[in-house]
Amino acid sequence: MSNEVKKNYTKAELDKMSNAELAALGTELDDVTVAYRKERWPIENDPAEKRAAAGIMTWLIISIVMGIAFLGVYLFWPWEAKFHGDEGLLLFSLYTPLLGLTAGLSLAGLGFAIIQYVKKFIPEEVAVQRRHDGRSSELDRRTTTALLNDAWQTSTLGRRKVMKGLLGGAGLMAGLAIIAPMGGLIKNPWRVRHEMNYLGDGTLWTQGWSMARNGAKLYLGRDTGAIAELHETGKGDHYSTAGVSRLVRMRPEDLDAASMETVFPLLEEDVNDGDKYDAERDVYEQHMHSLHGPRNAVMLIRLRSADAEKAIEREGQEDFHYGDYYAYSKICTHIGCPTSLYEAQTNRILCPCHQSQFDALQHGKPVFGPAARALPQLPIDIDEEGYLIARGDFIEPVGPAFWERKS
Ligand code: FES
Repeated sequence: MSNEVKKNYTKAELDKMSNAELAALGTELDDVTVAYRKERWPIENDPAEKRAAAGIMTWLIISIVMGIAFLGVYLFWPWEAKFHGDEGLLLFSLYTPLLGLTAGLSLAGLGFAIIQYVKKFIPEEVAVQRRHDGRSSELDRRTTTALLNDAWQTSTLGRRKVMKGLLGGAGLMAGLAIIAPMGGLIKNPWRVRHEMNYLGDGTLWTQGWSMARNGAKLYLGRDTGAIAELHETGKGDHYSTAGVSRLVRMRPEDLDAASMETVFPLLEEDVNDGDKYDAERDVYEQHMHSLHGPRNAVMLIRLRSADAEKAIEREGQEDFHYGDYYAYSKICTHIGCPTSLYEAQTNRILCPCHQSQFDALQHGKPVFGPAARALPQLPIDIDEEGYLIARGDFIEPVGPAFWERKS
């Protein structure tokens, strides 16, 4: 630290020096000039000092109480989502504001206490130091330690046991307020959480199409965008989703060559279109579950026949397509955005998030951008009535690069 060593000190000489002497020596050796220094409370037992300490302790107590309150709210407050008309909606709607309020006050209390302590108890000082290069010598290390000791002693925190305890407690509670919510992010990815449905079974590598594993017949459902319909009756008007088919089956001829359609899994028992249409049936909720499945969206692409002839199939997926029709997961293998853009001229699929491009003629292989893995391909076919169906589930997890994936 110091360029110019003013004196060589032996270990014995340094051992003999008091902390104050070592601190003064360190200041000198470091080329530090103390331009101004003033103790905050030069008179012992000053009542104003006690008042200042009480104010700081009040902030620390607020911080601790709010930290405990935060943990209480986080662990015990009813957090399950409630909707209009549900019992407990008010309590649920207070959950997030209370978390924010208690965590905020806990951190703010600690922050105010620290600022107040520095302003009211740490000696006022203006010091100037010249910059030096190189590593520190033994002498510098010893004197720096002495300076830190001096700072600790002059801060008077060492003798303020109650405040020290409160400061530790407030720091702990404020720290917990930050760390505890992360507990909610810890999840066992292999744990099955519910029966297989449109959302999979709760593990990361299942989704709506995984129902095909259990032998369920799944159509490639086209989203009609249909919503509740207005019914006029003698007793007044009302909206109903009965007879509204959000998802409908598709036939190959529903798609032009060189075009793309986003499709979703549609269970045979949830079909309400064509010859199976029943105006009284209400399958709207099931269809919405399929649409809301975060990994369900699939791009059904119909290639031009001339292009399809050039398609290169991936090993093990040679029969996954149906004629010129290829179905790829819409979830980008980079970080999961919808790869919504299909460019018919080049047969490339583009993810708008970070511009990854995938080649529809080469089994969805990434050809540009940060994505490193191919888009999973859904095996498809048509049934005896000519509707497009899934022949099975994806053979690899959908979405961002899982460690289970080999491609
Ligand atoms: S999420 Fe698709 S490129 Fe990043």
